[in-house]
Parts: sequence; structure tokens; C-alpha cells
Amino acid sequence: MIELGDNMGTIVKKKIRIKWKNLIPVLIFTFLLVFGITEIAICIGKVASSPKEKKVEVKVKKKKVSKNQAKLNKLNNINKKIDYFNNNYIDRYIKYKNNNTNLDNEQIIKNVNMNLDLEPYKDTFKTKNLNTNKILVNKYYYLEENYEPDNLETISKQYALEGMELVREAKENFEAMAKAAQKENLSIIAMSTYRSYNYQVKIYNQYVKADGQEKVDTYSGRPGHSEHQTGLAVDVYNGKVNYTKFESTKEFEWMKQNAENYGFILRFPKDKENETGYMYESWHYRYVGKDIAKYINKHNISFEEYYATKIKDW
Ligand code: DAL
Ligand code: ZN
Repeated sequence: MIELGDNMGTIVKKKIRIKWKNLIPVLIFTFLLVFGITEIAICIGKVASSPKEKKVEVKVKKKKVSKNQAKLNKLNNINKKIDYFNNNYIDRYIKYKNNNTNLDNEQIIKNVNMNLDLEPYKDTFKTKNLNTNKILVNKYYYLEENYEPDNLETISKQYALEGMELVREAKENFEAMAKAAQKENLSIIAMSTYRSYNYQVKIYNQYVKADGQEKVDTYSGRPGHSEHQTGLAVDVYNGKVNYTKFESTKEFEWMKQNAENYGFILRFPKDKENETGYMYESWHYRYVGKDIAKYINKHNISFEEYYATKIKDW
């Protein structure tokens, strides 16, 4: 039994050994096969899918870059040279350039910054810089009905018609200017200064009755759009000739030389009607402060140009 058992045991052991011997290469082969297939699949995946995705990504990026680049190329990359280039206005610049092919890029950018591509009194914005010398009010920028400047003060009767008010700093400089002119026997008199919104409604409507709106819009601001509401604007005359003839007086010549030293500019010059939106007014002055006044005169620009290129407050 024991022998038999031993023999039986040998036989069984042999059988098992044979099975393992066979199984190991099979297992190794299977493992290699699976590993190999997986590797191949990964490689095929890399070759087949990833680069395609990358290619698509690159294509999209290229498309975006080239679209912007194409726009900028139209303007000769002028944004790098002009510090008042506004990236948010690229589409407006291009549209305006297409409609004004005779203008150079600098002019295109300046004009769009001044909103000359928009419609006066239709495309309007609430003005910023309230109660500062930088405030801009024109056919695009308006003041709200209830806006009244801080620190309004009445100008001395020596230099003004009764009840003429300006913002304190403007008033003090106006008096100093009129006093200096007086020393040279010249008379500069304020005849229209701060005007409330409601007062502007009244006079604008009177003008419209007399002249019709189209004409009035060349010489009077609509309510909310007159800078007289800022308390920084003043119409003057010399007490003798009508204010519309102020240009022909010695006082006008004196103002030409001296107004900037007191912070005032001629607000609606002869050759700037297109920018200011109003006809030439030799009698209307605006307080902007000495530095800005001197800069504007030195460069022979309007306040609109100054705003569009220096204040850049869009
Ligand atoms: N006369 C100027 C334009 C005004 O009314 O504000
Ligand atoms: Zn005026």
C-alpha cells in the first residue's frame, strides 16, 4: 500500500510538474501579449488622437490671433505708437477708417476718441469728472437735470452783470483776470455764467422758436449739454459793443495773450467747429486751470482733442 502509495505520489507529482512547466511559458506569453497589445494601443492612440486634438487647438488659437492681427494690421499696429489708442474701440476705428480713407491713422484714432463716428445728441454718455476742471460737456457728454456744481460764488459787480455765478476757483481767477485787464484800461465783463438745467430749457426753447432747431444746435447747447451748467463757462463782452462782436475789440486781443495765465481757454475756436460741434464763439471762455489751458494753446487743440488724447476717460 505504501509502495503503491509512493508510486502513486510520484505519478501525481510528475503530472503536476509537467502542468506547471507548460503553464509558465503560457502565462509569460499571455502577459507579454496583453502588455504588447496595450502598448501598441497606447502608441496608436498617441499617433492617432492626441496630435489631432493639438492641431485643432493650435488652429483655433491661430484663428483668434490672426483675426485680431488682421484688424490691427489694418491700422498698421498703430496701438504701439499712440498712447491714446483704446483697445476697446478697435472695431470703431476700423469702421471709421473704412469710411474715411483720406485720414491718417492718428487722426482716425483721435476722431473716434472724440466720438466723431457717433451721432451727436443721439449717442450720448453721462459725463464724468463732476466738480473738477477736467469735466467735458458737449453734444455727446451730458449733465443730469439735477446737477448743480459745488461752491458756486457770485462774481464781483465790478467785473460782471448782476448775479453772475461761477465755481469758486473759476470765479477767483476770472476776477483776477478782469482786474489785470482793467489795469490796462480794458473792460472784461461776465454777462452769462452758470446756467441751471431749467434755465437752459427756457433759453433753448426761445432760440428754437426764433431760429429753428437745426440752426440753434450750431450755437446753443441743448439742456444738459451746455457747459454753462458746469459753472466753469463764461460769456464776456466789453460793456460797449455787442458780445457777438467781441472779436473786434482790444479786450479780445488781450484775452488771446493772457487768458491762459488765469486758466481760461477760448472754448469754441474758429477752426475747430467739427470737433466742438459749435460755431466759432469769440466771447465764450471755459475755466480748465492754468496747466491745461497752456497745453491746449501751445498745441493749438480744442478741449475735445485734449480730452481724447490726454484725459482718455472713456
Ligand atoms: N453757446 C454754447 C455752445 C452753449 O450754449 O453752451
Ligand atoms: Zn457761452
